[in-house]
Amino acid sequence: MGGRQSKTAVLGVHPTPLIKTDGKAERRKKFRSLRSSGTLASFDGSLINETWRFTGGGKRIHNLKNSKSVAPLVEEIERLQRQHRLFKRIWQNNFSAPIEEKLKSGGIRVLDVGCGPGTWTIEMSEAYPLSSFTGVDFTPLFPQEGKPTNAKFIQANILDGLPFLDDTFDFVNMRLLVTAFTTAEWEQKVIPELIRVTRQGGWVEFMESDIQYYNEVVTIMKSKGIVTPINSYVPKSMEANEKFVEGVQTEEKSCFVGHWAGELGQMAVDDITKGWSAVKMPMSTLMKVKSHEYDEIVATFAKEVEQYKTYFKTWRFFGQKVVTTASSSITSPSQWQEQSQSP
Ligand SMILES: C[S@@+](CC[C@H](N)C(=O)[O-])C[C@H]1O[C@@H](n2cnc3c(N)ncnc32)[C@H](O)[C@@H]1O
Repeated sequence: MGGRQSKTAVLGVHPTPLIKTDGKAERRKKFRSLRSSGTLASFDGSLINETWRFTGGGKRIHNLKNSKSVAPLVEEIERLQRQHRLFKRIWQNNFSAPIEEKLKSGGIRVLDVGCGPGTWTIEMSEAYPLSSFTGVDFTPLFPQEGKPTNAKFIQANILDGLPFLDDTFDFVNMRLLVTAFTTAEWEQKVIPELIRVTRQGGWVEFMESDIQYYNEVVTIMKSKGIVTPINSYVPKSMEANEKFVEGVQTEEKSCFVGHWAGELGQMAVDDITKGWSAVKMPMSTLMKVKSHEYDEIVATFAKEVEQYKTYFKTWRFFGQKVVTTASSSITSPSQWQEQSQSP
């Protein structure tokens, strides 16, 4: 999967230079003045418009007003690709909703929201070449070149509304956005927006993980009502939304963390510790600890997962959109291309 993504594509480089007529010196001057405000040069020297900025420590984070995510961009790509492989091994497949036959027959439209580097989207588009796939993310980590012809990527923030008509997609997928939204956003914005763009009779699926780890300490905290696991609010919000057919389904798997749990456990501890290291700058500031203290905390975590046989849970929640009126008038992918509103 990673082999498909050229270096420029991975960085989300704008294919068309925004400023073509300037001389070299002028371009350099503009580059210097724009660098800290989120505009950068691509590898060919042209200026590109980006939605990210540098932190004090020189890491890039995105620059979007209603985002809570603080992870640096490029470092995340490789980790997310490895994370995809971990969850693929745990679940043994890429989705649970009963849409395999339709995907194989072709002509159906799939949306992946918060697609990150587009690993799921591309793998699915290769597995089902007769269906169309769209990945959306507000961070341009996804490739614009070297992708299958039935896959495309669009930059958008779901909290501002998705740039698609009602009843557009047969299957809408969202994976691992547990830290991106408040419970109110899940209920009032995310779930309604995903169901809006789903066709009547189509499916919406979430794959999420708890951000809590299970061991004795967490069990005590849970008994005191301190932690709120995602499986208590996302399916409830889906059930409460009258646009879902009754009986939203939930599936659960455990992910064991640490060398004690074999190869998958090693992949999991590697993913988690690299994830914490990727957000070292903002997290150590938040925690008011020095750089080396933060590293020690991450190292202690890695030791403790072995000692306490830590694990976390990963979930899939999926439901079907009710059919209330005649089906959407958009019937073929070519019409859809004309009607979809790219930002
Ligand atoms: C942990 S990554 C998961 C990526 C991908 N779904 C996967 O499973 O590999 C979360 C992604 O959600 C994106 N994201 C977070 N909030 C978003 C929002 N409000 N709108 C669109 N994308 C968002 C982030 O930019 C990031 O790429």
